[in-house]
Parts: sequence; C-alpha cells; structure tokens
Amino acid sequence: MHKISVLGCGYVGLVSGAGIAKFGNEVICADSNVHRIENLNKLIMPISEPGLKELVQEMYSSGRLSFSFDIKKSICGCDAIIISVQTPQDKDGSADLSYVIQVAKDIAEYIEKSTVVIIKSTVPIGTAKKIKNLINTRLADRNAEFSVEVVSNPEFLREGAAIKTFLYPDRIVVGSSGNKDALSLMDEIYKAPADSGVPIFKCSNETAETIKYASNSFLAMKISYINQIALLCEKTGADIKAVSEAVGSDERINPKFLNPGPGFGGSCFPKDTRALVKIAESYGVDLSMIRTAYEANKAHKDILATKAVKIVKENNGSVLGVWGLSFKAGSGDMRNAPALDILPLIIQNGIKVRVFDPEAMEEADEYLSEYRSMIEFCKTKEEVLLGADALLVLTEWDCFKNADLEETATLIKQKIILDYRNIFDKTSTKNLGYLYYGVGK
Ligand code: UDX
Ligand code: UDX
Repeated sequence: MHKISVLGCGYVGLVSGAGIAKFGNEVICADSNVHRIENLNKLIMPISEPGLKELVQEMYSSGRLSFSFDIKKSICGCDAIIISVQTPQDKDGSADLSYVIQVAKDIAEYIEKSTVVIIKSTVPIGTAKKIKNLINTRLADRNAEFSVEVVSNPEFLREGAAIKTFLYPDRIVVGSSGNKDALSLMDEIYKAPADSGVPIFKCSNETAETIKYASNSFLAMKISYINQIALLCEKTGADIKAVSEAVGSDERINPKFLNPGPGFGGSCFPKDTRALVKIAESYGVDLSMIRTAYEANKAHKDILATKAVKIVKENNGSVLGVWGLSFKAGSGDMRNAPALDILPLIIQNGIKVRVFDPEAMEEADEYLSEYRSMIEFCKTKEEVLLGADALLVLTEWDCFKNADLEETATLIKQKIILDYRNIFDKTSTKNLGYLYYGVGK
C-alpha cells in the first residue's frame, strides 16, 4: 500500500483520489478551497457524478481516504503526489499553467524525502520536464539530499461516467524519463486495473503529454465531422441517423462519438483543441484540421441558434422552452456548455427563454446572469412549456428522452420541437401533430 497525496479536488482529482484508494492505496486529497474540504469531510460532494458519493463514503469509512486543506501536512511523508489542479484556457487559447506551477513550488518547499510527482492535469508537451527542473532546482537550493521524478499520467475519465471510466479505463498512460523506481511505483499504484487486464502504455513524458491532447482532439474532430455531415443531410434529405450508424459500423471508424448534437462542450475538448493548435504553432507546425474542428464547432452553434430564431419567428412566436443546459447528460457541468453560446444568440433576437435542467440550474444561473431579464428558470420540465411557442432540447437527459409528448402537446402553446440532441423519433413526433426539426433529420 502506497501513501499518495492528490492536490486539487475537482472532477479529476476527487475521482482519481477515491479511485486510487479503491485500488488499495492510502490517499489524502488536498485542496486550497477550505469550504470544499470542510464539505468533503462531511461527505458533501462538490460535483454531481453518479456513484461518487458512495465510493468516497466507502473509502472514507475504510480509512484509506482523507481530506485536508493543509498542503504541507498532506504531502509530507507521501511516496507520490498527484497534481490535478485545473489548466484553464488563457486569452490566446494556450493552457494557463499558473496553478500547476504554484503547486509545484509548494511541493519543492515542503517535501522531505525523494518523491514521485505525478501530473494528471492536461499540460502542454514539455511541462513534465520543466516541473522536474523547477522542483529539483529548489531542492538543490534547500541543500536537500533527495530529488523528485516526474511522471506524466494523463486522465481520460468522462464526466457523467467518471467513476466507471476511472476504475475501468481503456488504457493507462505512464510517461517518464525511464526511472525504474518511479515506474515500479506506478505499477504498484495501478496493480488492480493492470491485473484485470487494463493495458498500461509506458512511454516518454512528451509522448504521454501528446497522447492526451491527440486523443481529445481526435474525438472533437469526429464530432465536428458528423455535425457537418448532419447539416448536409438536412439539405439533401438523407437521414443522419442511418448515415452515422452505417458509417460507424465500419470497425475502422466505430460508432462512438458519431452522434450529431448542438456542438461539443465541456472542460476539455474546446480548450484542448485550441491549446494543441497553439503548442504546434510554437513549433512552426500548422494543425489545420484541429483548428477547423474547433472553428466548425463554433459555426455549428451559430447555425443552430439562427435556425431556432428563424423557426420561432416564422411561427410568430416570442418564447422558447428549453430542456437541458449542461454540456452533456449525466453531468451538471456548465463549462463551455453549448447552451452558453446558443441561448444568448436567441435572446439577442428578442426571444425569451424558459429553461430547466435536472442538475445545472444553479451553475447556469451564474453563467447566464447578464441575460437574467430574458430567462425564466423553471422548477420542472413541464413548467418550461407554459406559454412556449416551441421546445428546444439541448441536453439528452433521460427525463427528457422519456417525456410523454402527448402530455407535452397539451401544455405547450405551439407544437414545435427543435430536437438538437436527436432524442425523439421524427415520424412519431410528426404523428402527434408536431413540427419537428432535429440535427440532420
Ligand atoms: C482537470 C485537469 O486537471 C485539467 O488539466 C483538465 O484539462 C481537466 O480536468 P478539473 O478537475 O476539471 O481539471 O478542475 P476543477 O474541477 O476546476 O478542479 C481543480 C481543483 O483544484 C479545485 O478544487 C481547486 O480549488 C483546486 N486547486 C486549484 C488547488 O487546490 N490549489 C490550487 O493552487 C489551484
Ligand atoms: C472528454 C473525454 O472524452 C475524456 O476522455 C477526457 O478525459 C475529458 O474530455 P468529457 O468532456 O467529460 O470527456 O465528455 P465527453 O463525453 O467526451 O463529451 C464531450 C462533448 O462532446 C459533450 O458536449 C458531448 O455532448 C459531445 N458529444 C459527445 C457529441 O456531441 N456527440 C458525441 O457523439 C459524443
């Protein structure tokens, strides 16, 4: 059993901390946000994620997981320290490393023995080497007789399925300088998933850092690709559902991440695509495909917003009911949610919106505060419909998928559905008397 400290209790840090405790290690999760730690010690979760509370509770009761806001106390005596603070987008699109650098400085100040520093945050290629240099230079200044090794261990968990995708990942990536002690420590930390057959890719730090950006950018390109094909289907009369299914059934392509929608959002794809383009630029390489994926995503949201405005106005309407705000079902996260681009454009055209999301209401209220006078935050999905000239679906939550459209028809003012997640069947919706507009159908 290893003693591991996790710095940053956000989506990645908290899930990783609880998961690594489940793998049989002793974990202390630290965060500079005192309120967050006080809540975690009362088992109040900072994020909504299926199964998280149960796992945290189980590990907390077993004594293998604890929480602290005292970074010094939490890292002293640990065999490994995981960095999982945020790396947000700078104004120019590149990754802001200030939080990572700050915790690296803290590590350099407080550790008292040789330690492996594991970077889980998504960081530009070359960061692991810089962090190792930064910490070891300070240790030399302190006349310390030990040094650190830095391992790049990018995280691929998906919000809404974070516990499952952490405990049973497709692969684990371990980038290092080849130091044997660091590699065997990583083997021991991840013994449980490795024993159950999860492949562990060992490579250099730079390779591991690249794998994370290349994976996210590929998935983002895949979504932008299918969204563009969907727009073409809309014009040609082809059926995007059938196109996507048949294209995806080719093993070389595979059906996942081929669902058209309102554009990709979340804390990773928008920021990581831009950051990778910036990183490549600094090496004189033009990643035009990835840049286009990002730009196409922006254009896609504009097109869908314009389409919604046109349809509401053509039907002499002025109020739009909206089901779903978070960036995807299963997560209450509003970071870069398509709703944050689509709704302002609709509102700027004089259309009022009535909104409901099962998890994201509070966060959405903060993000959309400047449009407050044009937004009615409703308590139920039914309340959204009252006085609405059309219904817009932005997130594919089950409560919307399972909605009774016959009952909906009795509540809404005009029977118009803008299904931007393609959750309803076009024919049966039309049979109920609705005007139906999906993405690509
Ligand atoms: C993660 C990654 O680390 C990021 O690089 C990746 O691109 C997306 O996923 P995430 O877990 O989503 O970030 O970040 P967030 O939910 O914002 O959590 C970060 C936590 O770190 C917060 O709780 C914050 O209080 C804490 N923090 C930040 C510290 O404890 N110390 C700091 O110095 C900065
Ligand atoms: C992503 C990566 O999948 C994960 O590996 C990485 O660690 C973090 O970034 P996440 O942002 O949590 O995970 O969600 P994901 O399920 O990948 O969805 C991202 C966005 O793409 C969402 O807005 C989602 O609605 C959209 N999407 C996804 C589509 O529009 N169509 C699809 O077929 C799949």
